[in-house]
Amino acid sequence: MTGVGIDAVEIRTGKLKLDLAETFADEMGDAPEKYTKGLGLYASSFPDTYEDIVTMGANAAHRLMERKGLDLDDIGRIDVATESAFDHSKPVSTYIGGCLESVFEGDLHHANKGERKFACVSGTQSVDDAYNWIKAGRNRGRAALVIATDTALYARDDPGEATQGAGAVAMLIDEDPDLVELSTDQGYGSADETDFLKPQQQFPSVDGKRSVKVYLARMREALIDYERVGGDIHPDDFRLGPFHTPFPGMVRKAAVLAYRHITRDTEIEDELATEIGRQPRPEGFEDDEAYMEALSEYTDALKETERYQSWYDRTIDPTLDISRHVGNWYTGSVHVARIAGIKALAEAGEDAVGDRLLVGSYGSGAQAEIHVETIKDGWREEIDALDIDEQLEARYDLSFDEYEDVHDAHNFDEESAVEELTVPESEFAFDGWGRMGERKYRYVE
Ligand code: CAA
Repeated sequence: MTGVGIDAVEIRTGKLKLDLAETFADEMGDAPEKYTKGLGLYASSFPDTYEDIVTMGANAAHRLMERKGLDLDDIGRIDVATESAFDHSKPVSTYIGGCLESVFEGDLHHANKGERKFACVSGTQSVDDAYNWIKAGRNRGRAALVIATDTALYARDDPGEATQGAGAVAMLIDEDPDLVELSTDQGYGSADETDFLKPQQQFPSVDGKRSVKVYLARMREALIDYERVGGDIHPDDFRLGPFHTPFPGMVRKAAVLAYRHITRDTEIEDELATEIGRQPRPEGFEDDEAYMEALSEYTDALKETERYQSWYDRTIDPTLDISRHVGNWYTGSVHVARIAGIKALAEAGEDAVGDRLLVGSYGSGAQAEIHVETIKDGWREEIDALDIDEQLEARYDLSFDEYEDVHDAHNFDEESAVEELTVPESEFAFDGWGRMGERKYRYVE
C-alpha cells in the first residue's frame, strides 16, 4: 500500500476577533505584555452568534470538498473531534454530514460517523483512527474527513479567559496524500490527571498552573516512548516541530525541555559544553533535589545559547504564527501549528518535499502523543489554496462590551438576545432550535 496521511486541509476561524493587548488587557487590569510577551498571544478568534462548532466544521469541510472536486460518495467516514459538544448522544458529525448533504448531490448514508473525546488530543486520535481504517483496507477506496472543531471559551474571569479561541480544521485523510504522510511509529504519555475537565458543565474547571506541568510531563513521556520505536531523535532530523499550542508561551516552555532531551549525548551537547557545561546526570548528585536544581540551571543557560535560539527560530517559532492571532482551538490547535509551520516554508520559498515534522499532540486529563510526518510532493499547492490570511484580516474587531455580549450569547446558561455582528454569506449558519431541542442549520447563499 502507498502511504497514508493528510491529503488536504482547510481552516475556518470564528469571524470575530478580541484584541488581547488593545481591548482585553486594560479591562482585566493587566499589562499588554502579559499577553504579547508572556503568553505570546495577540488576539483570540470568536464565533459570531450564528457560528458554532457545526458551522465552522461544515464550512471548512465544504470548502475542502469543493476545492478537491469531491462528491459525497468519495467520503467513507466523518470523525469529529471536539471538547465543545452540545449533545451527549447525537454526534456533531451527523449535523455536519447533514449540512454537506444540503449542498452536494447524493447522501452520506454509507459513511461511518462518530465523535472522539480526549480533550485536545482527540483531533490527532481521529486522524489516527482514519489512518488505521485505511491501512486496514476497510475504506473501499474512500477517504475520511476528520474535523477538529471547538469554541474554546472559559468562564468569565477564569485565568484561561486570556487563551480563548474558536475555529475548525478539516482534514482529508487518504492514500497517497498530497500534504503529509504519517509514520506508523507513535509514542504515548498517558495518566489519570485532574488538570482541566468539564464535568457536566460548559466551561472548564482548570488548574492552570498544574495543567502546564502535566503538559510537560506527559509530552516528555511520549517523547521517550516514541524513541523506543522510532529510535533516538536528533534536532537536525526535523524541519518543524508543531506542538499543541494552548498559547505560544506553553510551547516555548516545552521546546527547551525537548531540545535538552534530544541533544543529550550528541555532538551538540559536546559543542555547547565549553559555553554552558555538560548536562547534569542523576548519578553525579546526592539527591533528586540537587539534581533537579542543576538541571533547571542548565536549562536556563541552554535557552540563552545561540545554538538553541537558532534551532527554536527555525523549527518551532514558525508553527506559532497563526496561533498568536487566534488563541487556543483545543482539538484543532496542533493541526493549526502544522499548517502555520508549512505555510512559513512556502512563504520562504523552500523546497520542503521530504522534510520531516515531529508532531506533539496533547489533551488534558491527560495524554500526549508524538509521531512523525513527511511532507509530500503536492504540499505547495495545498498550502497556496488556503485563505486563512484573508479570513483573519476580515474578522470583526470586538469592543469589550461586545465581547461580553458575545460570550453571553454562547453561554448555555444565559438568556441572550444579542444581534449578529457580521452578515453570513456563502456559508452554513445556525438557524434556531427544532422541536426535540436539536440545533438547526441552513446554507446562506
Ligand atoms: N510582561 C511580560 N511577561 C509577563 C508580564 C508582563 N508584564 N506579566 C506576566 N507575564 C508572564 C508571566 O511571567 C508568565 O510567563 P511564565 O509562565 O513564562 O513565567 C505569563 O506571562 C503568564 O502570566 P501568569 O502566569 O501570571 O498568567 P495567569 O496565571 O493569569 O495564567 C495560565 C496563565 C495559568 C496558563 C492561564 O492562562 C490558564 O489557566 N490557561 C488555561 C489552561 C492552559 O492553557 N494550560 C496549558 C496546558 S493544558 C493544555 O494544553 C490543554 C488545553 O488546551 C487547555
